[in-house]
Amino acid sequence: MNITIEEYDSSGASAHLIDAAITASYQAAFSGFPWNSQVTAEEAKIQFEKHKRKNGFKCLYAMTIIPTASNNIFSVSEHELLGALWWDCPTENQLLEERGEKLVKFARQKANTLLIWEREIFVRPEYHGNGIGKMLRKSFLEKLPIIYGSFLVLTRMRDDNIPVIKIAEEFGYERTGIKISSSKPGIDHEYWFYKAKE
Ligand SMILES: CC(C)(COP(=O)(O)OP(=O)(O)OC[C@H]1O[C@@H](n2cnc3c(N)ncnc32)[C@H](O)[C@@H]1OP(=O)(O)O)[C@@H](O)C(=O)NCCC(=O)NCCS
Repeated sequence: MNITIEEYDSSGASAHLIDAAITASYQAAFSGFPWNSQVTAEEAKIQFEKHKRKNGFKCLYAMTIIPTASNNIFSVSEHELLGALWWDCPTENQLLEERGEKLVKFARQKANTLLIWEREIFVRPEYHGNGIGKMLRKSFLEKLPIIYGSFLVLTRMRDDNIPVIKIAEEFGYERTGIKISSSKPGIDHEYWFYKAKE
């Protein structure tokens, strides 16, 4: 599969189409394992709009081209959005408000630098296991030093979400040891961090 990672541009000519494709894949991804959330299209749209207003919001998305008839040079090809990853740059006060004192303290002990909150990473369920999640995270981590210089990435992962934890560990994410209990009994979430090696 020929996959490209693109940067989201909210002022681009086709932004409304990309928005619709991102929210559709968000809806599909979070309706499946391990969330089974039954997210509606409207809820997915509201969530994306809310996240877009966050301080320093940026997004990457994965695209592929699906040829409709492979041996016909006049055939029309369709672009399909496979998944996305987005982040923002919370101030210390915003992080405190959203995530609490323990994480702010942890972040400051790790590095006195720009904070990046990796908010969402997801892939359409029918494309899981093709390395797209890995491509998104790799691209994200390659872009960060170019855009920001130094930074500390923070994120939250659910303990039973093996695929997302696996690709985080592979790229050097580490546990903070700060757990958050969820509404589902017996399932914890944990804050994780990524700091580029100096
Ligand atoms: C997390 C997610 C983005 C991963 O996307 P993906 O494109 O399927 O990921 P990749 O194919 O790049 O890699 C997944 C890895 O997890 C592994 N994996 C998947 N399911 C697994 C399981 N049940 N047990 C162990 N490993 C598993 C895969 O084998 C692969 O590792 P490998 O390449 O070493 O074999 C995708 O599962 C998703 O969209 N989940 C729903 C949304 C979500 O939970 N997002 C994270 C919120 S914090």
